[in-house]
Amino acid sequence: MTRTSPPAAVANIADTAVAARVRAVVRPKIRAMHAYPVAKATGLIKLDAMENPYGLSGEARAEMAAAVANARINRYPDGGGDEVKAALRQTQGIGNDVGLVLGNGSDEILQLLTMLVAKPGATVLAPEPSFVLYRTLAEAFDLRFVGVPLNADLALDIDAMLAAIARTRPALVWLAVPNNPTGTLFAVADIERIVTAAPGVVAVDEAYHAFAEVSLLPRVLAFPSLVVVRTLSKIGMAGVRLGYAAAHPAWTTEIDKIRPPYNVNVLTQAVVPVLLRHGELLAEQAAAIRRERARMAKELAALHGVTVFPSAANFLLIRVPDANAWFQALREAGILVKNVHGWHPLLDGCLRITIGTPAENNAVLEALSRPT
Ligand SMILES: Cc1ncc(COP(=O)(O)O)c(C=O)c1O
Repeated sequence: MTRTSPPAAVANIADTAVAARVRAVVRPKIRAMHAYPVAKATGLIKLDAMENPYGLSGEARAEMAAAVANARINRYPDGGGDEVKAALRQTQGIGNDVGLVLGNGSDEILQLLTMLVAKPGATVLAPEPSFVLYRTLAEAFDLRFVGVPLNADLALDIDAMLAAIARTRPALVWLAVPNNPTGTLFAVADIERIVTAAPGVVAVDEAYHAFAEVSLLPRVLAFPSLVVVRTLSKIGMAGVRLGYAAAHPAWTTEIDKIRPPYNVNVLTQAVVPVLLRHGELLAEQAAAIRRERARMAKELAALHGVTVFPSAANFLLIRVPDANAWFQALREAGILVKNVHGWHPLLDGCLRITIGTPAENNAVLEALSRPT
């Protein structure tokens, strides 16, 4: 055995030297970006991220514990995620002729779709305001992003969308159905016009489908441009990180080529089929959230100075006289919501409030009924 002497103290290089290298190789657009802010919610009622506030039943938890106990974490996961896909097909009514790709959350699916179309000079188009990741990803892959403003009432400006599609020939169009952060449900006829007019991919992001009456998934093979993106995050499994794309296999075969081979981990693959078997419980929870959404919309609209926008999702966008002050008042009452004031001119004065349990929602109403 050779003896080595302790290493001599090494001086750290100067910060400026690293900064110079970062500047040399990282594009200015990326250097100008900010990491997606995730607020700490310890000790607060968490109504900022559209999670399901209800837990699992004792039975579901016991089954999940057994699945985790038996998971082979010494092995890489199944690269194809076959059991998860079979469970999705069975519980979500997805036919065997539809291609599926799994992601580590649907945000990974959004990244893969952007990467898929990332030819130099390609355009990505979305209505705005919408999910912020659409723009961030386009910028990260050095693509041109075209945002088409919604109408003042936050409805889709279909004529502007069709004109922008004809003008910019986007490789990828994003449509969040229902839309985040507005909660708006775009008309199916308008979605179909866009899906038909677009020359490339139209990704219909159905993150909030459980709270709306509308889905394009049953017709995903009827349009050559259509890719439907979904997530389990909003129906009670945000922590397991599973999203998926459903489309004609010609699309999913291409997406699979750029997907990291083991992107969905062993524990997620073990737990998801178990949880999907409890679809009845998840559906009851979604129904409770829809009922609470209706109650909250009515009660919030009755507050002085508050405008509530119609929502088909598990959150409400409201406009208040002073978003910063109202956000702070909620914070002081121990409630975390999303202050979207300043994100886009159409969101001026707006807060986005996730629908919680009845008790959590009552806490919101109580805090907002006090004068700010
Ligand atoms: C419209 C939309 N798509 C996708 C996502 C990403 O969800 P996840 O990565 O949890 O699947 C979100 C998250 O809020 C969203 O609002």
